[in-house]
Amino acid sequence: MDQLDPLHKLQEFLRFPSVSTQPEHAPDLLCCAEWLRELLSGIGLTASVHSTPGSPVVLAATPRDPAKRTVLIYGHYDVQPPDPLDGWTTPPFEPRITDGRIYARGAADNKGQILAHILGVAKTLGEKGVLPVNVIFLIEGEEEIGSPNLADFLREHREELACDLVAISDTAMAPGNKPALTYALRGIAAMELIVRGPARDLHSGLFGGAVANPVTVLARLLATLHDAKGRVLIPGFYDAVRPLAPWERKAAADLEKAAGGDAAIKELAGVTDLFGEEGFSTIERIGARPTAEVNGIGGGYQGAGTKTVLPKEAFAKLTFRLVADQDPAVILTAAEEYLRKQTPPGVLLEVMTGHSGAAYQNDPNSRDGLAARKALAGAFGSEPLLLRDGGSIPILATLKEILGVDSHLLGLANPDSRIHSPDENMLIENFLGGIRMNRVLLEELGK
Ligand code: BES
Ligand code: ZN
Repeated sequence: MDQLDPLHKLQEFLRFPSVSTQPEHAPDLLCCAEWLRELLSGIGLTASVHSTPGSPVVLAATPRDPAKRTVLIYGHYDVQPPDPLDGWTTPPFEPRITDGRIYARGAADNKGQILAHILGVAKTLGEKGVLPVNVIFLIEGEEEIGSPNLADFLREHREELACDLVAISDTAMAPGNKPALTYALRGIAAMELIVRGPARDLHSGLFGGAVANPVTVLARLLATLHDAKGRVLIPGFYDAVRPLAPWERKAAADLEKAAGGDAAIKELAGVTDLFGEEGFSTIERIGARPTAEVNGIGGGYQGAGTKTVLPKEAFAKLTFRLVADQDPAVILTAAEEYLRKQTPPGVLLEVMTGHSGAAYQNDPNSRDGLAARKALAGAFGSEPLLLRDGGSIPILATLKEILGVDSHLLGLANPDSRIHSPDENMLIENFLGGIRMNRVLLEELGK
């Protein structure tokens, strides 16, 4: 498998602008899926591309030996939009290697991480001809838009996908780039609001004072989501939240110490001060507490100079990050009721709900959790920290529900990988470490 130069392959993978949220990139997603299929069949797996109502799913598997355990390795080949383009040092789909990092959209989220697993399997197969476990690769093209078609795909292919556990590298290392096993991820529920007022944009002198301004109404509504400390005010929002176990608070404190405390998080975020709910450390607030975030807001005149207008509408895009055992549907309903109650007469509030996925949590001391920890320690040279992270992989709860198995999250992204931001990058040592990690992981899981 010498022709599989890891960095060369990664650069090829990163050149596809596989942006799932933008319809004009559908052909790029298709080409990227086909590229993966060729790679996977080239290393000796039975590989196929399955169309869905959205982007295709790539499946690949070793022959099933009933005497061996089966590991499903999940990843995604779609990426977030590269915007804002002017934030990039070099173009997002022209990978650049410099100072031990590879820069491109998708480098760490998730192309570098899933490719490390593929190349790990390729290496073991090239050297030994067989793997210690059966392996299935499930690589989707819609993770970044909430995996809208994957649950149906899982149901339809339930038998083919039957496995003992899922292994995923789509999370991050701990601050300081220390190895980490993530045992909980937040869930997500998306919502869009439109406040509609007058039939058309009005002269703000002739109508201001007489007509409710949709931008002002929306701003007031959004301001009711939190108290001054960032605690969410939607009634019932925290009712189902599973409290932190004492060992978890200790793990969070250990992590905070190892990670350099709040100073390191400020540095990563580029802020002078942190902000959030009282009674919890920053690390706990990120991983173990739910939030309501405004992701975008718009309305009214956006051009140069001034325009005296009373806009006809305003919009906002929100996502709630959820923790076990909050139900996304319950939260969306509670949020809508709360916002409607406070909407003044004279405007119409339109509420649209978007994708959602429940939070996920497993036991890092389970048999496979311990195997995953050994794999990380073996590849990266120190015992992994235990992490609850704030991001979401919306399909995790569904994998558990449909396939009945746990997912183990062995993140390879460096904490300063800038995923979803300009200049996304992956440390090459993490990528190569991931290839080693896959080999130890499959060995440990096969024991
Ligand atoms: N890889 C991330 C999730 C992640 C990153 C978890 C780092 C923990 C640490 C994933 O690709 C992602 O960005 N998910 C989205 C899901 C959403 C668009 C439905 C997220 O969390 O915003
Ligand atoms: Zn992502």
